[in-house]
Amino acid sequence: MEDVREHYVLKFPEAELPDEVLAPISYVTLAAEHLPQVHDILHRSFWTGIDVSDSLQYGPQQATIVAMYKRLVVGCAFLSSPQETYITYLAVRAGWDNAQIATSMLYHLITRNPNKDITLHVSANNPAMLLYNRFGFKAEEFIVGFYDAYLDPQSRASKNAFRLRLRR
Ligand SMILES: CC(C)(COP(=O)(O)OP(=O)(O)OC[C@H]1O[C@@H](n2cnc3c(N)ncnc32)[C@H](O)[C@@H]1OP(=O)(O)O)[C@@H](O)C(=O)NCCC(=O)NCCS
Repeated sequence: MEDVREHYVLKFPEAELPDEVLAPISYVTLAAEHLPQVHDILHRSFWTGIDVSDSLQYGPQQATIVAMYKRLVVGCAFLSSPQETYITYLAVRAGWDNAQIATSMLYHLITRNPNKDITLHVSANNPAMLLYNRFGFKAEEFIVGFYDAYLDPQSRASKNAFRLRLRR
């Protein structure tokens, strides 16, 4: 936010900048008004064409977490549904990483779905592996070419994936 404010001052040197009121990051359930920002984060983090609008119909209180700084979406995490507790996407807005936002979203998803195993696939060279390991997820399969159909061939992310499971 400091960067944004500094750029504003450079662009409009005469303008008066209002004082910044700091706010905590809040963790809320997905709502329709979040979708444009959520899709932007998911397209930049994974691939274009991802559409999570359906999540509004499948138990969003249990299956979706949106991290907000004021009205800015800074992260999002999704399960397929409360029945199928598979993590489809977990992403944090660029520039907001390493602030424990992913950790907090994962914590909320896990605690909102007690007594159920949680599974996911993660690219083999993704540092998020460390995050999942810390929560107790264990690898149960290594799948060669899992992301072949999705990732850009130029992408540095490994096309191979681990399937991880958190046993409850
Ligand atoms: C992976 C991602 C969700 C992490 O978000 P984050 O909010 O920065 O993560 P946290 O701050 O909660 O970090 C938790 C831990 O993850 C690991 N980690 C996260 N990003 C890392 C990085 N770039 N390099 C090394 N470790 C990293 C670290 O173990 C970190 O622990 P630490 O804080 O003790 O160092 C974020 O970088 C992202 O959106 N990446 C693109 C999308 C993606 O790959 N999602 C996961 C696929 S399933």
